[in-house]
Amino acid sequence: MKILITGMAGFIGHAVARRWAGQGHEIVGIDNLNDYYDVSLKRARLDDLADCDGVRFIELDLADREGMAALFAKHRFDRVIHLAAQAGVRYSLENPHVYADSNLVGHLNVLEGCRQAGVEHLVYASSSSVYGMNEKVPFATGDGVDHPISLYAATKKANELMAHTYAHLYRVPMTGLRFFTVYGPWGRPDMAMFKFTRAILAGEPIQVYNHGNMERDFTYIDDIVEGVVRVLDVIPQGDPQRPSSDSAPDSSSAPYALYNIGHGSPVPLMAFVRAVEAAIGREAICDFQPMQPGDVPRTWADTEALYQATGYRPEVSVEEGVRKFVAWYREFYGV
Ligand SMILES: NC(=O)c1ccc[n+]([C@@H]2O[C@H](COP(=O)([O-])OP(=O)(O)OC[C@H]3O[C@@H](n4cnc5c(N)ncnc54)[C@H](O)[C@@H]3O)[C@@H](O)[C@H]2O)c1
Repeated sequence: MKILITGMAGFIGHAVARRWAGQGHEIVGIDNLNDYYDVSLKRARLDDLADCDGVRFIELDLADREGMAALFAKHRFDRVIHLAAQAGVRYSLENPHVYADSNLVGHLNVLEGCRQAGVEHLVYASSSSVYGMNEKVPFATGDGVDHPISLYAATKKANELMAHTYAHLYRVPMTGLRFFTVYGPWGRPDMAMFKFTRAILAGEPIQVYNHGNMERDFTYIDDIVEGVVRVLDVIPQGDPQRPSSDSAPDSSSAPYALYNIGHGSPVPLMAFVRAVEAAIGREAICDFQPMQPGDVPRTWADTEALYQATGYRPEVSVEEGVRKFVAWYREFYGV
């Protein structure tokens, strides 16, 4: 197959490309290499893919309408994994427009490309942040998600709505994946795992939000990759018999599906801190901070729909995942 991976220099895009490398597929990856975080880490991920058979990189911005149209016209991809986006809840408070450019205009350009090229299946990244103010746990794709509390979350919810429209109008099969706090080797420097490890190793304080009273459904990168790979082969057909009275958000007469990919077990933030301390062998200095605007106190994925569709449930424990991240971090940065 010929597969497009958007955001290939990113944390998840690199891991997905690595998993497929050398398996006979032709992978084209794009990324605009923006400086939201350390660009040298993005370049190092691409270097890590440089000797992989069948993997090619093109520097391109999703928001470049002509460039994206030309990419799709030239390559005629069979399937598309769309992971490029402006991520981060806190950054969206200060830089709202970049979310509109990358996540709304960029997403539209991907949808248009898939439509024009007749792509077999588009799998795109959504986020657990769409659950916003929801209090019912675990979070399920059948729950309504109409109360996002950050612009980032609102763009991800918009991505799902836009995808549904294209699935309905043009019958392009589309699957959205709501990822839950992904961590692991080659991870993102703006996320807790990375920041805690860096600070503890440097003997600096770590900032612990909401005084530690938070829970996150931390999901190890290999579990995310396994989920993405399996879902790519589960092409939604749509249910033409679906009664018009059925208003469940996760079913449709269009070829459209949505899944959570999370570990399925929320971990208290302080237990996560203890796991990082244990893996490093040093205690953290905690600087307790209030809740940050845009953040939610708890995330917890209902993974039943993913299991029913793919036979897979994420399985790596936080202790094991944190150990693997810390080992990678120490080797990569030589600390
Ligand atoms: N990591 C998580 O915990 C998490 C959780 C929920 C959802 N997600 C979503 O998963 C996807 C991948 O996340 P990640 O953690 O790998 O993030 P990341 O920032 O490491 O990767 C995203 C990549 O997309 C690229 N990019 C951003 N805007 C672009 C544009 N306009 N054109 C081209 N490239 C662009 C970036 O340079 C980056 O390399 C994103 O859509 C993100 O919103 C991630």
